[in-house]
Amino acid sequence: MKRSHTCGELTKKDDKSQVTLQGWVDTRRDHGGLIFIDLRDRHGLTQIALDPASKGFEEAEHLRREDCIQVTGNVRPRPTGMENPKLHTGEIEVYCSKELVILNKSEVPPMDIDDRKLANEEVRMKYRFLDLRRPTMQGRIMLRHKVAQAVRNYLSSEDFLEIETPMLVRATPEGARDYLVPSRVNPGRFYALPQSPQLYKQLLMVSGMDRYFQIVRCFRDEDLRADRQPEFTQIDIEASFVDEEDIYQIMERMMKKLFSIIDVDVNIPFPRITYDEAMDKYGSDKPDMRFGMQLMDVTDIVKDSDFKVFTDAISSGGKVKCINAKSCSEFSRKEIDELIDFVGVYKAKGLAWIKVLEGGKLESSIVKFFSNDIQSEIIKKTGAEKGDLLLFVADHKHFIVDDALGNLRLKLGEKLGLIGKDEYNFIWVTDFPLLEYDEDMQRHIAVHHPFTSPKEEDIEKLDKDPSSVKAKAYDLTLNGVELGGGSIRIHREELQQKMFKTLGITKAEAEKKFGFLLDAFRYGAPPHGGIAFGFDRLIALMAKTDDIREVIAFPKNKAAESLVDGAPSDVDEAQLKELHIKSTFKPAKEDGSKD
Ligand code: AMO
Ligand code: AMP
Repeated sequence: MKRSHTCGELTKKDDKSQVTLQGWVDTRRDHGGLIFIDLRDRHGLTQIALDPASKGFEEAEHLRREDCIQVTGNVRPRPTGMENPKLHTGEIEVYCSKELVILNKSEVPPMDIDDRKLANEEVRMKYRFLDLRRPTMQGRIMLRHKVAQAVRNYLSSEDFLEIETPMLVRATPEGARDYLVPSRVNPGRFYALPQSPQLYKQLLMVSGMDRYFQIVRCFRDEDLRADRQPEFTQIDIEASFVDEEDIYQIMERMMKKLFSIIDVDVNIPFPRITYDEAMDKYGSDKPDMRFGMQLMDVTDIVKDSDFKVFTDAISSGGKVKCINAKSCSEFSRKEIDELIDFVGVYKAKGLAWIKVLEGGKLESSIVKFFSNDIQSEIIKKTGAEKGDLLLFVADHKHFIVDDALGNLRLKLGEKLGLIGKDEYNFIWVTDFPLLEYDEDMQRHIAVHHPFTSPKEEDIEKLDKDPSSVKAKAYDLTLNGVELGGGSIRIHREELQQKMFKTLGITKAEAEKKFGFLLDAFRYGAPPHGGIAFGFDRLIALMAKTDDIREVIAFPKNKAAESLVDGAPSDVDEAQLKELHIKSTFKPAKEDGSKD
């Protein structure tokens, strides 16, 4: 019964040999007296030829798409002119001289197994087992496997140990919302599914494991987006006796190895940019470096103008920045209105614009508010030339200016075709702030996580000016996607306690929630640091898709449901009872009322 070859490997050099193939009927073409079947498996397609003298000719007449069959016959060259240079097997066909076995018939599939005819999202998710038969999906899953193997090989060669950490862990208060799992044997108590193995990998460093990695599932109950799934995979890494430079180098070498799988030669070392500079020039902490169009601060130039929108924003502590959309002065009113609506999504109150015409003349409803001096200063600062379009955002909140213009930059980069689709531009973003003030919680929260070390020289500022403290934290960004992030950790108990204090976590609370880590730090914890990469994001970038669901075999949809098996589902009352759980959820009635 065993196949002798896959459907993707036979060539002219196999001429005349007898082979057995197994796979699915991709297409069947009946030329009256001559039947051709494209037989498919994940390795490729092979053309099977049958004529009335072949074994199984009659069965072949009734074959349908996706029937699973086995064919035994002989390899022969295709007639001249009938070769298919696009297929690896395109020079040959298998003449079914011995046997055709129908291994299993298929019902008419609810979707085409065809990369050119994509079914809608819901059908693809529900019938994922069929969607995964498509060559594109099979290619992505195979790529994922290859990259995972390469990660293991590379990190093992660098003396890292792959160590598993638990999936049922203690709930942690910082970060995203936890997925909770009730404990049957400990009524009323819960495990959490890990958001990441952060604390465990730090404990492993205390254990002297030195260099750890894991390709590990993480769980976060957060709102979903194209690059976020409730369960996703990290390449998680931690090492002892290292500083930032060691981490950068080990990871750069790893990325170089991984990208060679898709024949991309990445240059290392990667460039670096500080968080402050990234925000200033690109309005984002994950700048897409494949094109320019940097943000420019014109606050000082326009602060004395008569344009109240700008001066009001500035006098209330804000700023004005702009981007120069080269050669876009021809944009229509409608196109500009679309841009105005677009920045509105990022909470900008408006988008002022100036078109640069012949002879440096400016066209805009707002130039009248700018003196000639201010106008020429703007031109000078922005390097604007005839045909350019300057776009400005002012706000009293700096973040809104950066965020709106940063996103507008990306939108224009896309619209104007400035983004090279074959480019892979890595950049380290360094020197993140340690803390940010959370207005809702009325306290500082950790930008990365509470175990990240402040920069040595900033430790003394933790009490007086926490917002100004920089962290030994870094992200690796690729083409505007945050691929990974990590930090050098705090390894001494006193500093960790101080950090908790700054975060408004009392000693008692810290002891209750993180006591085990603080305990561990009392026994000679080594200096250590690490990083974690979003494995799904990495594969998505390599596969040139921006939706990580495209590289996950069984992803969740936007409502965090798995359509293939219908999770999450109702459970038996008895099951809940055993767990001492009572649901207070009342499904809305059809008229919308709850009772
Ligand atoms: P962080 O939270 O930055 O760091 O996560 C690391 C990387 O994981 C990816 N990622 C996700 N991918 C898909 N769906 C999600 N919901 C999701 N959330 C995060 C991103 C991100 O860069 N323990 C720390 C790492 C460390 O300090 O070593 C951590 O988890 O690509
Ligand atoms: P207005 O005076 O409100 O008619 O605005 C004049 C121009 O300034 C319009 O093009 C607005 O889109 C723009 N504008 C309004 N608010 C802002 C802002 N906060 N930043 C930049 N431009 C703005």
